[in-house]
Amino acid sequence: MESAQVLRNDEALAIRTGDLSDIPVIQRIAREAWHAAYGEIISEEFICHELDREYSEAALKDQMSESAHTFLMAELADGTVVGFASYGELAGAAESSGVKRLAKLYKLYLLPELKGKGYGSALINAVIARCEQSGCDQLCLSVNRGNPAVAFYQRQGFSVLKEEDIEVGPGFVRHDYVMGKPLSETGASTQRENIR
Ligand SMILES: CC(C)(COP(=O)(O)OP(=O)(O)OC[C@H]1O[C@@H](n2cnc3c(N)ncnc32)[C@H](O)[C@@H]1OP(=O)(O)O)[C@@H](O)C(=O)NCCC(=O)NCCS
Repeated sequence: MESAQVLRNDEALAIRTGDLSDIPVIQRIAREAWHAAYGEIISEEFICHELDREYSEAALKDQMSESAHTFLMAELADGTVVGFASYGELAGAAESSGVKRLAKLYKLYLLPELKGKGYGSALINAVIARCEQSGCDQLCLSVNRGNPAVAFYQRQGFSVLKEEDIEVGPGFVRHDYVMGKPLSETGASTQRENIR
């Protein structure tokens, strides 16, 4: 599925579905984005542990092929991939929260030098639109409590649902906010937010 958006600076950005051939560019952007975003929040060892756990070729293949994570790639007209997002529906996870169908944003990363140009909004709006089209009524995500991206998500209509500390490896504990945004059956939230 492809969609094209015109951003504030009149730049055309295509959002397309990613596949196994995108694994090398996903790995490169993740490496750069993780060191830039988390270098002052978590240790180098923790960053490498998470890059290996989440972004090894085997892990990405598993996410795409077995775990039904959909990857969206943000691409400029010259073919440069500037960022990516991944999301999927959390089967059976919604009942306790009173939400009928819950989707989760797993990843959202841009090349660090290209932040602040509207690419992040374009990607998250594409995720929201696709989740609304497939009938999900809430989108949730986990974000490090020290990550400035918390303010970005609030700007996109997400609010903090709870704090969560999760051990993801020996001595490696993630200190996250779980954030959520109600989705609209009519897709109204994305129609409004795509107008910039
Ligand atoms: C978070 C991220 C995806 C945002 O994408 P972006 O392209 O830089 O953001 P946009 O240019 O689309 O900004 C959209 C709005 O959010 C605001 N915003 C973006 N980053 C912000 C920040 N760090 N603090 C406060 N507001 C922020 C912008 O000012 C803008 O507001 P406006 O609509 O009123 O103009 C991007 O900065 C990024 O890749 N960060 C590093 C990786 C990361 O932390 N990912 C999240 C992991 S959970």
